Amino acid sequence: MEDTQLTYYGGYYEPLKQLEQEVLGWLNERVDELDGKHQERPVEHIRSRIKTAEGVQEKLERKGYDNDVETAFTQLSDLIGFRLVTHFVGDVYELVKSMKSDTRYRVVKEKDYIALPKPNGYRSYHVILECPFPEAPDGVLRVEIQLRTIAMDCWASLEHEMRYKKGITNTALIEKELKRCAGEMASTDLSMQTLRDMIRQ
Ligand code: GTP
Ligand code: MG
Repeated sequence: MEDTQLTYYGGYYEPLKQLEQEVLGWLNERVDELDGKHQERPVEHIRSRIKTAEGVQEKLERKGYDNDVETAFTQLSDLIGFRLVTHFVGDVYELVKSMKSDTRYRVVKEKDYIALPKPNGYRSYHVILECPFPEAPDGVLRVEIQLRTIAMDCWASLEHEMRYKKGITNTALIEKELKRCAGEMASTDLSMQTLRDMIRQ
């Protein structure tokens, strides 16, 4: 744990870590459920993180909120974030379905950037869960889960990497090419899905 994070979250850090583990366990149950159904593991990996102090402060400032951890609890939904990377596109939708039908946590928001990609080509399915969290002012904390295929994850990582490169001159061309790559990867995802469906029959 970084010192700055410890200072920023103070006594909230341990309860946050605990909720992170709880939700991680719940997500693994969703994965096991699908695994049991199809006898093949749908998820390549799951990662989670607690937002860094710098990340929280930057976002509160950007959105014009007071800079304190209680405000972060009520206004931000990605203090705890998860990323589920699946093999196939269909796995994303099956996992979301399982998350929505289980009653332990409430799905309060969904963004399907797979059906409707962002203009730059970004694809993922975002789910916001509401979790009991007695330490927060309103007793709940929202957490963000990003679901995407290996191909979408690959693209997002590379795009993220390049976004922060300074002194790029041919921005328009790079953006156009990035978007084209996202489209090609999406079309490969669809072909892979078709192959998987053929094999499963
Ligand atoms: P913030 O962008 O976090 O302020 O919130 P928002 O309400 O716009 O949520 P959105 O669903 O658009 O994005 C949330 C998260 O998804 C981001 O913090 C990133 O982790 C990821 N994300 C969204 N858009 C992109 C993108 O274009 N490229 C990459 N690499 N990641 C993205
Ligand atoms: Mg955004």
